[in-house]
Formats: sequence, structure tokens, C-alpha cells
Amino acid sequence: MEQNKQNKELTAILEVSKVLTSSIDLERNLTSAMSTLGSLLEMQRGCVFLLDSESEQLRIVAAHGLTKEEIMRGKYRIGEGIVGRVIKSGSPMIVPNIGDEPLFLNKTGSRPNKDGISFISIPIKLKGEIFGVISVDRIYAGENGSVDDDLRVLQIVSSLIAQFVKLWETYKKVEREKDQLKSQLKERFSFPNIIGESEKFQSILKSVVKVAGTDATVLLLGESGTGKELIARALHYESKRAAFPIISVNCAAIPQNLLEIELFGCVKGAFTGAVSKRIGRFELALGGTIFLDEIAELPYDLQAKLLRVLQEHTFERVGSGIPIKADVRIITATNKNLLTEIKEGRFREDLYWRLNVVPIMLPPLRERVDDIALLTDYYLRKFNKDYNKQVTFTEDVLKTFISYSWPGNVRELANTIERLVIMADGDLIDKDNLPFCMFTFKTDKLDIIEHNSNSLNDEVEEIEKQRIIKALKEQNYVQNKTAKALGITQRQLGYRIKKYGVALK
Ligand SMILES: Nc1ncnc2c1ncn2[C@@H]1O[C@H](COP(=O)(O)OP(=O)(O)O)[C@@H](O)[C@H]1O
Ligand SMILES: [Mg+2]
Repeated sequence: MEQNKQNKELTAILEVSKVLTSSIDLERNLTSAMSTLGSLLEMQRGCVFLLDSESEQLRIVAAHGLTKEEIMRGKYRIGEGIVGRVIKSGSPMIVPNIGDEPLFLNKTGSRPNKDGISFISIPIKLKGEIFGVISVDRIYAGENGSVDDDLRVLQIVSSLIAQFVKLWETYKKVEREKDQLKSQLKERFSFPNIIGESEKFQSILKSVVKVAGTDATVLLLGESGTGKELIARALHYESKRAAFPIISVNCAAIPQNLLEIELFGCVKGAFTGAVSKRIGRFELALGGTIFLDEIAELPYDLQAKLLRVLQEHTFERVGSGIPIKADVRIITATNKNLLTEIKEGRFREDLYWRLNVVPIMLPPLRERVDDIALLTDYYLRKFNKDYNKQVTFTEDVLKTFISYSWPGNVRELANTIERLVIMADGDLIDKDNLPFCMFTFKTDKLDIIEHNSNSLNDEVEEIEKQRIIKALKEQNYVQNKTAKALGITQRQLGYRIKKYGVALK
């Protein structure tokens, strides 16, 4: 073979392999591949057909020398025309002069004069699977090369294309799965589950969207049940860390002496009884987010250790001394006033400033009364669905909900609705079905008291009892914590539990 021609072929193959890996855009790469072949090897037209597994048709995915309309027309069934036969048989076909070949259908209509044109069609296959066809038009005149040479080059090109198409399919599949996973995760926690149209709440959602994409440390402030954890999760699932875990740690729920190991893990033998190593929550959260709830309860010495994580972006397993890179976003929450905690020497000021980079204050429900109707509607639908019921509320119920102060905030509202739905005998819930405490809690409004005929003393005792029951529940029936939350001593609490006959779970 002539030197010049051989060089051209090598250049063409090299160029095709280059453009095929230039991006992950299937059509763009294949189109460049075909125009490279067209210009370097003087092929008049070139098409890549791929088999669409659903319609079982061959479709032109990329072409050189054809108009858009011609490309659209180029569809073949398996076995139809020359291209259809190639995919069926898996062997190349050559038509020396398409003017003489009745099998040649010219479906694209791109060849008004078919005489003198040769047509080469080659299957695209990999490991026995045939998934497409390459076809080219060629006018052989004088020194324009031979069919055999073209066949050789095209076979190499087709195997390059085959590998690229397979790679692309795998890539697409992974991308699709990733998207699906992401949307599944998001459905559970992101905005469809966060209800709030009031101005106050909308401005919170706005900041959530704004800071979610950053790695900024967020401090969520607000009473219990206002949605701090919900917002923490939204921040995580809206961030680029969404594919990694969000790990929650309730600093108040773990005994203080175990908290360090819980957070940072430990190596085997780190302390008496450490018979095996333990992975801490920070390590579990690598790549993702750690949500430190009730941060005010973090013991003072651990506050210093957390500060070091924030400053040095590393942490160590207890007893190890080997730093681990803390690629973790930190979100914290508290219902306490940290400034008071600082003043009283229970919280480190230096840590406070590190945690308080972006503070988000969640208002108590009584300060966003506008949202109560929406939330009620949302939770009523949800629990009706969960329990397969069709409960509705009277206007009066909604009015009571709106005027009630909801000390337990959205959590209390959700729990109340759930209980009402479960307990409902019929489908309509009236004011009479509401718990007694909902009419008496607003102690600053005396008119509520007169609604009931009991003496003031009974009234006050009932309020006290309900508050104790509620606080016990919130503190998981841990009495010293409950006493603390209510601002009374443990003895006082014990006395009242007995007096009111409160069930301890
Ligand atoms: N804006 C809201 N929309 C819908 N549900 C909410 C909202 N805020 C809170 N909740 C629900 O109330 C309950 C308590 O929320 P949570 O985030 O645990 O509060 P916190 O961490 O502040 O105590 C959860 O069931 C949560 O889904
Ligand atoms: Mg919480």
C-alpha cells in the first residue's frame, strides 16, 4: 500500500480515538468521529446507527454529510435494507454500486443519483453483542483507495465506537441511579415536608437555600419541636454532601462520660474495657454532615475538643493520636440561650463564635399563627393516609388550634392530630374531642379558665399535671432531666408524680 495512504489511515484512526474520548456526549463524539473519517478518508457520507432496544429499530445517532431531515428518515427495522441485514447477520456488507442493488433502500433520500457510489456497512459489536451499524458511502475513482483498505479501517473504527458506546451506556446508567437515589432521599426530608407560608418561616427557608450549598457551620436556635432537626436535614440534603450520610447526635441523650468515644471513636485498649476499636460519629459522617443536637449539653472539656476539630479540621480517635481529616459539615442546635450559658460559665465563648457562623432562629409556633391551618391540614392528610381514615375537623377545632399556645410547637401539633385521628370514633372531630389542656394552657387569658366550672385550684393542678406528663414524655421519663426542664427539684417532681398518679410509661 502506498505510504501516503497508510499514513492517512493511521491518522484517521488516531483522530477518531481522540474525539471519542473528548467528552461524554454520545452524539457529539460520534458526529465528530464521522466527520473526521469523512474528511481524512474522503468518504462522502457516513452514519452511525444504534439499535434502540425498546423499539427494536436502528436509528441514526450521528452522521456526516446528511441533513437533519435525512437523519430523521433513517430508521430501519432489524433485517430491513442493507443496514438491517448487517445487524441481523453481524457481518459487514459491501455494495460496489448501489445503483445496481435492489436491496439498497436509500431511505434517507440523501442520494439522488445512486450510480457510481459504493456502500460499506459494518456492525458495531463487542463481546458478541451487536448493537449498531456504521455505514459509509464511497466513490472509488482512480487512486481513491480500495474497498479492502476501507473495510480494515472501518473495522478498527467500529470497535473503538463499540467500546465508547458501552462506556457511555454504563456512565448513563450510573448517573440515572445516582439521580434516582438522590430524589428518593430528598423526598423524605426536603421542602415538600417542610410546611410554612408565613413571612417569618419563608425567610428561614430562604436562608436554608442560601447556606445549604456552602460548608458554613449553622447554629439552629429555637424551642423544642420548632423543626430544628428538620431544617438540619434539609440543609444536608440540599447540599453537595447529600450523597453522604447525615449523622445526628443528641448531646443530652448520651451519658457525658461516653460522649467523647461516641463522637470520636476509640482504639482498642484506649481505656479499661475498650476491648475493640469503635468508630465514632464524626468518622461515620465523613463526607457528609454531623448534626449535634442540644449542643449546650456538651460537657465543658469536650467543648474544647470540638473547638479543635473546627479549628484544625482534624480529629483523633480516643487513644490513637493519629489525626483523621474531618471532612464533615457541622450543624448544631439548641433550645437554650447560649449567651446565658456562657455568662454562667457552662459554655465556651470561643466555641460559640465558631458554631454561630450562620445562626437560624426557628420561631415558636405561637409566633407564626398563620401557619397553623396549613400544618393542621398537612398532618391531618398525612395521618389519615397512615391510618387509613377520613377524619375531618370542625371549624371550632381549627379555631382552638389557632388560639392555643402550643408550648411543644409543631411536634405537639403533629402528635395531637395523630392522637385525634387514631382515637376518632366517627369521621368528624369536634371541640369536645380535644384534650382539656388545650383550653387552659394560655394562663394569661383568664376567659379560658371560666370556660370550665371547676375551681381555680383544680384548674391550676390540672395544668401542672399536664405539664409534668408532657415534660416526662419529652425527657424520655428521665426524672432528673424532667425536673431540670420544669425548673423544680427532683424531690418536688417525685411528690407531684405521686400526687397526680402520673403513669411512668
Ligand atoms: N415546618 C414544619 N413543617 C412540617 N413539619 C414540621 C415543621 N417543623 C417541625 N415539624 C415536625 O415537628 C416535629 C419536631 O421537629 P424537630 O425538627 O424534631 O424539632 P426540634 O429539633 O426543634 O425539636 C417533627 O416531626 C417535624 O417533622
Ligand atoms: Mg430536636
